[in-house]
Amino acid sequence: MMNKDLLKKAAAEKAVEYINDGMVVGLGTGSTVYYALVKIAELLRTNSINNIVCIPSSTSTEKLAKEFKIPLTDFNEYQSIDLTIDGADEVDENLNLIKGGGGALLREKILVQASKKFIVVVDENKLSKKLGTNFFLPVEVFPFAEKLEVEYLKKLGAKVKKRINNSQYFYTDQNNIILDCEFEVIEDSIEMEKLLNARAGIAGHGLFNNMADLAVVAGLDLDDSIKLDLLNKNKLEIKAEVK
Ligand code: A5P
Repeated sequence: MMNKDLLKKAAAEKAVEYINDGMVVGLGTGSTVYYALVKIAELLRTNSINNIVCIPSSTSTEKLAKEFKIPLTDFNEYQSIDLTIDGADEVDENLNLIKGGGGALLREKILVQASKKFIVVVDENKLSKKLGTNFFLPVEVFPFAEKLEVEYLKKLGAKVKKRINNSQYFYTDQNNIILDCEFEVIEDSIEMEKLLNARAGIAGHGLFNNMADLAVVAGLDLDDSIKLDLLNKNKLEIKAEVK
């Protein structure tokens, strides 16, 4: 296993320790959450956790959860989630996030808004002083408005690329497109969020400001200033040993 994968696994498994019997759990999407799913399945098999039900944030997570025999439910049954565990593409020192590298950003945000607690699980490479410096910002757009929103995002300073996957345009679980926006840096993510929320053609975007309660970060570089900053705010748990 590559080192980065070991870190993802370590962070995911640490976050799973926060799941208690009887909880409604929100399942994010992505390669880090994958390790959380594996762990949850193992704990269920060994009766180490009981009576949980989970709400998946994407069709891909739903499929995996079914394979792993993780009990699933939906918002028709439960309108409140006790704990959501999800990854992120970039995490800043105030615990604002960029998400959506996997394209599930809209449902992921719906889950988080319904959650009492949101734990974000990342390896230390995802930490960054300012959002936008290491990752593009995914913006989900209704195909009807594509050209309009491309122009709008360009005016905000982004280089815009329509997402392609396996040589085909990528469509989200809602049949929308993703415009990946490269800003050199997002100076003010709160202001950027307002500008994006103002557009009817934008169905969702990957900025998750002030939404995470805790970051579980796996990594060995404990002197990192961002980690220390988050630790001081009681918003970080470090999983330093990696097996
Ligand atoms: C999925 O849409 C994303 O928001 C993921 O949570 C994010 O891209 C992190 O994915 P990885 O864990 O695969 O890096």
